[in-house]
Amino acid sequence: MSDKFFDYIIHGGDYNPDQWIDTPEIWDEDMRLMNLAHVNSATVGIFSWSMLEPEEGIYNFEWLDELLDKLHENGKDVILATPSGARPLWLAQKYPEVLRVEESGIRNEYGVRHNHCLTSPIYREKVQNINRRLAERYKNHPAVKMWHISNEYCGECHCELCQEAFREWLKKEYKTLDNLNFKWWNGFWSHQVSDWSQINSPKFRGENHVPAMKLAWKRFVTDSHISFFENEIVPLREITPDIPITTNFMKMYDGINYQKFAKHLDLISWDNYPAWDKGRNVAEAYETAFVHDTFRSMKDGQPFFMMESTPSLVNWHDVNKLPKPRRQELSSIQAVAHGADSVQYFQWRKSRGGHEKFHGAVVDHCGHENTRVFKEVAKLGRNLEKISDVVGKRTNSKVAIIYDWENKWATGYFCGYNNLERDYYKECTKWYAPFWKNGIAVDVISMDDDFSKYDLIIAPFLYMLKDGVDKKIEDYVYNGGKFISTFLTGIVDKDDLCHLGGFPCGNLKEVFGIWAEETDSLPKGVENAVEFNEHYYKAINFCDIIHAENAEVLAHYKSDFYYDTPAVTKNNYGKGTAYYVAFCDKGRFSKEFIEEIIKEYDIKADTEIKADSGVSIRKRGNVIFIMNFSDGVAKVTLDREYLDIVNGTSVSGEVTINECGYLVLE
Ligand code: GLA
Ligand code: ZN
Repeated sequence: MSDKFFDYIIHGGDYNPDQWIDTPEIWDEDMRLMNLAHVNSATVGIFSWSMLEPEEGIYNFEWLDELLDKLHENGKDVILATPSGARPLWLAQKYPEVLRVEESGIRNEYGVRHNHCLTSPIYREKVQNINRRLAERYKNHPAVKMWHISNEYCGECHCELCQEAFREWLKKEYKTLDNLNFKWWNGFWSHQVSDWSQINSPKFRGENHVPAMKLAWKRFVTDSHISFFENEIVPLREITPDIPITTNFMKMYDGINYQKFAKHLDLISWDNYPAWDKGRNVAEAYETAFVHDTFRSMKDGQPFFMMESTPSLVNWHDVNKLPKPRRQELSSIQAVAHGADSVQYFQWRKSRGGHEKFHGAVVDHCGHENTRVFKEVAKLGRNLEKISDVVGKRTNSKVAIIYDWENKWATGYFCGYNNLERDYYKECTKWYAPFWKNGIAVDVISMDDDFSKYDLIIAPFLYMLKDGVDKKIEDYVYNGGKFISTFLTGIVDKDDLCHLGGFPCGNLKEVFGIWAEETDSLPKGVENAVEFNEHYYKAINFCDIIHAENAEVLAHYKSDFYYDTPAVTKNNYGKGTAYYVAFCDKGRFSKEFIEEIIKEYDIKADTEIKADSGVSIRKRGNVIFIMNFSDGVAKVTLDREYLDIVNGTSVSGEVTINECGYLVLE
């Protein structure tokens, strides 16, 4: 499928008119308001199963027919959802096996959502049936442009069906029990498995101290979600082969390996709810940028959809602070700058009752357009119409950071070193930040992705190296790549078995020119000092104690018994260079070190525009986005004359951008 699903940026969001079925005048009012808000699409039917099939085998599509026609008459595109995220009560009552069993072993009662077994043949059959009916009925409906599969797949089920499926999965993965016993190191605590039936899912009351088993379970749960999804889409692929398919991901949710799931989607979409205006807007901005870039990189740079965001506040923070005026507009523009071809909200109209009635929506309970939020959405809608040139445009980046879902699991499971202060996501965003601040585009990739297209790769805390990845790094560096690793690199394999023969594993000792002999852990509040270029930096949490065997030493530790031993090294290997940063940095070292690297290798920013700190600059196609995330007015120095696309004026020289403001230039 192509990169371009629409000719314009999709602006819309979750629309739940089935909640307003008894007030048809509200449906008409919605159409009027959508037009006013410059909204061009609606995502419908996400939680509509009980409206579509009120009793088993009794269907009611008339309301949806009418709604889709109405949306079409008003020029709106429809993203049609499959309703598997929440099932009708009759279904759970008649077939209790569809309900999820929690880790406790107790089956849930009906209620909430995402409460289904991933294996249950009956549930899979019922889902396929309702999906088939939707596809048959709307295959030729001119408004229907995309499938939204289920909603935020998540969680896991521990029922007997899932246990059996797990054992079958293990048989395929490990072939023999001898192999499994070896890989899981089951001799430890005398846990050899002598029959497959002895294996259950990891549980608090059962086996929960075998990291390899927990990794296997995560992989199995990922595959269960993928197979559930593949089952859902059988009738859609068959009946509507030309309608693209997506499902909405949840930020860096680690219950499912999204990097694997992504390969099954026509396009990625994700739900973006940053916590703005809580005193850390710049950090929130680069962390959100990192997440956008992660999703953009999952399908080789293909644009993605921002399927949900709130137009004002959420209802699920402890305290739901209102974002400042224009904050959500800026947040939406950020998504587009990083590769989103849509700005969509949860939700169009606030629910009158239920759990989410105080969650932000475009249309408030007052019901009219004279609200701050509505006006901001309408203004953004107008602006998005002016920048439709970016649709379908990929970003080419020469720098990548490895953020690998399986490594995330592994770094969370091992017991040892610093068990308290250990945050893989934070490590990666810390090394991403200096690139963001310098306006340099970064891809965020997994260890399985192609390295060869990058000039520079940073792999923070890459504790797990699956088979062949050490060789891949070696080849990459040998052929001219620059590679930066940090503490605890290359410690275990795919099954969390330690690599033997010294760390980092295998030939990486030659590639980095070092041997990491021990790792020290520092409790919160305790720091080591690192001297680099005659400046002192703070090391926290983890400090590898290394020997520079061939490498040049760039920095030394300055306290503790490993005083004056190497803390940062550089090694030329083949045509490339490998750096080892042996410690966990408190934040300043990574910034200044990366700035040196940028200078040394002449890594180019996307543009020549200079701006105050807190301002992010991104280029997509020919369009340049300048976004002010700082807590005040920011100054920007343009390198030439540009067209301000939003205002239709030309700009040059020094300009100022208000707090939460942005410029879109060409
Ligand atoms: C998620 C869900 C939506 C809604 C929003 C609220 O993203 O997909 O249905 O519950 O959260 O923020
Ligand atoms: Zn189950």
